[in-house]
Amino acid sequence: MSQRRAETSGISDWINQRLPVNQFFIRHLVNYFAPKNLNFWYFFGVFSLVVLANQVLTGIALAMVYTPTGAEAFASVEHIMRHVPYGWLLRYMHSTGASAFFIVIYLHIYRALMYGSYRMPRELLWLTGCVLFMVLMAESFTGYVLPWGQMSFWGAKVIAELFGTIPGIGTTLVHWIQGDYVISEVLLKRFFAFHVIAVPLILIAMVMLHIVALHSVGSNNPEGIEIKDQCDRRGRPLDGIQFHPYYTVKDIMAVLGFLIVFAWVLFYVPEFWGLFLEPANFQPANPLVTPAHIQPVWYFSSFFAMLRAVPDKSYGALVMLSAVVILCFVPWLDRSPVRSIRYKGIGSKIALSCLVLSFSILGFLGTQPAVGGYLIMARIMTGVYFACFLAMPIYTRIESCRTPPKRIQG
Ligand code: HEM
Repeated sequence: MSQRRAETSGISDWINQRLPVNQFFIRHLVNYFAPKNLNFWYFFGVFSLVVLANQVLTGIALAMVYTPTGAEAFASVEHIMRHVPYGWLLRYMHSTGASAFFIVIYLHIYRALMYGSYRMPRELLWLTGCVLFMVLMAESFTGYVLPWGQMSFWGAKVIAELFGTIPGIGTTLVHWIQGDYVISEVLLKRFFAFHVIAVPLILIAMVMLHIVALHSVGSNNPEGIEIKDQCDRRGRPLDGIQFHPYYTVKDIMAVLGFLIVFAWVLFYVPEFWGLFLEPANFQPANPLVTPAHIQPVWYFSSFFAMLRAVPDKSYGALVMLSAVVILCFVPWLDRSPVRSIRYKGIGSKIALSCLVLSFSILGFLGTQPAVGGYLIMARIMTGVYFACFLAMPIYTRIESCRTPPKRIQG
């Protein structure tokens, strides 16, 4: 027995002298001190990692059978669903996973906005997150085109046409992106290459940067207090606890709960009443028949509503792009003396609520035809969305805030 233990430690010593696995574990999990008051909002970062792993693994399996050609793409997805053993499960894990990714990311971003996690010294952590969000959008858009259904085809057409609105180079650019004068399998093959290798590589590299940035500055917390400001003689934050075992165990329990909910959706409502997989996409792409309502998947719906809210297409595209890019400026727009919404004034509270409300209403409007009252509402909500950001330097400066405590209470 003791000889066996010696052999095991011999192997781990052998590995650790060549690759510092233990040192890495101790440095990043055991000697990494996280604030002791992290609440459930802090689970969504971990959930994103779980969903990312799910997307990569199921994506690899799907790519083994899927065929990226105009003639076979749609049929190959049907083949996966009907004939490949457990193909339906893999496909649904991937398509439900895409929606789950956006649900957890939207909640993850909301948490950061709520607790001011983008404020100094976490600006780069936030910026890597913003880039991640854009890369994630590119990943899901290229993926949505692959089944080559009606919505894949017409969605790709609408987005490709947006590039055509750029003055001067528009048409040439569209042809260059499409590799053809029309949407064809040339684009499908390009999107396949981007979806399975180019964009995932960037996504994974950005996630690593995001985590490195997080570990250099440490987590913020619901109180918005910097725990590193109050340390003991050994330099350990007084309000911090070791990430392992405290948060590893807590996170594992949360991930189990998340997987139960995920499995429930997967097995009972994988298409989520046409929201996660739209009915029109169960019809093969047909360049001669335009669907009655072209609309993107739910997670792009708010941005789509902003695009249509502007009469001129090129300005609409600009507004849509700005709606994402504006997030990058939040660390510099917020001038409040405190970080967390708990201590901010009424202005910030109203603005954050208006932001969530306008974004949700726009999400609904994106699923409706852009006419009459819907269009007017979309214009108002687009204005409210941007006002929440652009007026931030004003309301965060003039509102009266409460003074946060020096230490985390309790
Ligand atoms: C693939 C996408 C992403 C992954 C896998 C990811 C992962 C993580 C993880 C594991 C954490 C630590 C746990 C936590 O605080 O929840 C974290 C923290 C953070 N993330 Fe992300 N993230 C992603 C996207 C984003 C996006 C899109 C943003 C913002 C635009 C963002 C902003 C932040 C911020 C500010 C923190 C620190 C929060 C705090 O300390 O209070 N992340 N992320």
